[in-house]
Amino acid sequence: MTAPQGIDLHRHLEGAVRPATVADICRAHRIELPTYDPDELAELLTVRKPVADLAGFLVPFRTIKLCFVNKEAVARIAYEAVEDAFADNVQYVELRFSPEFMAFYHKVPLTDVMDGIVQGVDLAVGRMPVTAKLVVSISRDLNPDTMQMPWPSPVELARLAVEYADRGVVGLDLAGKENGYPPALFAEPFRIARDAGLGITVHAGEDAGPESVREAVEHLGATRIGHGVRIVSDPEVVALVRDLGVTLETCPTSNVLTRAVESLAAHPVRTLFDIGVRVTVNSDDPTVCGIKLSDEYALVVREFGFTPDELRTLIRNAEEAAFALPHSL
Ligand code: ADE
Ligand code: ZN
Repeated sequence: MTAPQGIDLHRHLEGAVRPATVADICRAHRIELPTYDPDELAELLTVRKPVADLAGFLVPFRTIKLCFVNKEAVARIAYEAVEDAFADNVQYVELRFSPEFMAFYHKVPLTDVMDGIVQGVDLAVGRMPVTAKLVVSISRDLNPDTMQMPWPSPVELARLAVEYADRGVVGLDLAGKENGYPPALFAEPFRIARDAGLGITVHAGEDAGPESVREAVEHLGATRIGHGVRIVSDPEVVALVRDLGVTLETCPTSNVLTRAVESLAAHPVRTLFDIGVRVTVNSDDPTVCGIKLSDEYALVVREFGFTPDELRTLIRNAEEAAFALPHSL
């Protein structure tokens, strides 16, 4: 079988930082880390076994955030993320990131975070035959009330995303802790993004149940759902997703680690695919999950017997759901 051309619709930039780069930047800026050894750090940043819940999975980001020191660091991180995707046979990648999360620890201006990412991505796509687009992720649980410091509101973040639509931002996402932060709370920022023509994807049905997916579709106009795997417990929501042609961005290894699914064997990618849901396979957080996109494709072949034709369908699903056209595929 010839290697399929990779499309990754769901990859967090923060979860794709090279451990060696975290070490490098932190050492240069005298920021304390448990270790500066790239292999030891990689081990510390990788979740190897399923944790209690999504919050447990997000723990390594407390260390990763230390390396977002300035615009130059962010540009390097974005460049390397595109380079790593390309090296893994990915021809089209949407990198999502939370500007406010990347900005807050070292008080980097939000526009420096945005400009650094744009700069790094532009440099990379100028050097490699790869398309890379950006999706702004609003962190549901980080907000002006919880952070006790000046913090951009979801509406301000949506406006920021729209402002950068001419520099590679193609969509708006909702990420972070799902329980306690239902999609309907975010109707206004998503209306702003939709009105401006941005694509809408929402993490849902990962840590919370099928209703979260229904809400993301009905209240926020999501045409894509991050993960969505918990819909299998509600046939009505499965039918809604299938009938509306909503695309699920599943991330098998991540879904096991966060306990969105009970086990790999219980992952619904095959079931949903067979009943006609538009399923895709993505990486989520390559560094934190310790995987590449190609590993995830190998996994669905090994575990669920996806045939070459079926893999092509998965990739076509991703191509059709991409927020920008992967023209060259
Ligand atoms: N941020 C990084 N990975 C995430 C995930 N799997 N769910 C929600 N927010 C995230
Ligand atoms: Zn995600």
